[in-house]
Amino acid sequence: MRGFIRIFLAIFGALVLAVVAIAGFRGDYTQRTPIEIFPDMDRQPKYKSQTPSSFFTEGRVDRIPPYGTVPFHVATDQPYRLTGKMANMWGTGIPVTVDQKLLARGQERYQINCQVCHGTTGAGNGITSQYGLVGAASYHQDKYREMADGEIFNTITHGKGQMGPYHHIEVNDRWAIVAYIRALQLAQNAPASLLPAEVVKAGK
Ligand code: HEC
Repeated sequence: MRGFIRIFLAIFGALVLAVVAIAGFRGDYTQRTPIEIFPDMDRQPKYKSQTPSSFFTEGRVDRIPPYGTVPFHVATDQPYRLTGKMANMWGTGIPVTVDQKLLARGQERYQINCQVCHGTTGAGNGITSQYGLVGAASYHQDKYREMADGEIFNTITHGKGQMGPYHHIEVNDRWAIVAYIRALQLAQNAPASLLPAEVVKAGK
């Protein structure tokens, strides 16, 4: 009987040691590289957004969408049409069909809502400027020519600085106004190639 208990205790002790050795020391820090049986795609040959890259001439990974790209949405709950944003950047492109009807609508909505401050041609000299409300932006500055369509949409929706929000204007009408502002900008800054030949010849 004694012999049996001794053997039992020896086996029991060995088992306790084995369990502690295998399971007991988890969660400790180690400097050693872990043994990797399945890499689980931990390392992938890909670019992460907003990181530098020597591959592209301007040194960054993020690509600018070609001009005129019409983004329709990023996530279903945050459509570009409602926010002007693609992911966390202002997007460019008018997400409704741009035709004469839309531009006419944009012109009408612009004249009703914006012209008092921004002026007939968008030069920032509307009638209110004669009554002391100065500082309405002129669209004929490079920074507004270059501003993304989505950011202009956002300015209409939420206002900016001294300008109040115009979210009571319907979403599609806000985009129509953005399209009309682009038309105003083109009207003041058209490349010669877009002008009728007689105008170019007359040097006007
Ligand atoms: C009551 C006057 C007023 C009206 C009406 C008005 N704006 Fe403005 N707007 C301003 C002023 C003032 C600024 C300059 C805001 C600032 O930078 O503080 C401005 C700035 C802007 C800018 C430039 C924003 C920027 O990011 O710098 C845009 C684009 C613009 N307005 C579009 C519109 C459109 C489109 C409408 C009509 C839906 C409109 N505004 C109606 C006064 C007005």
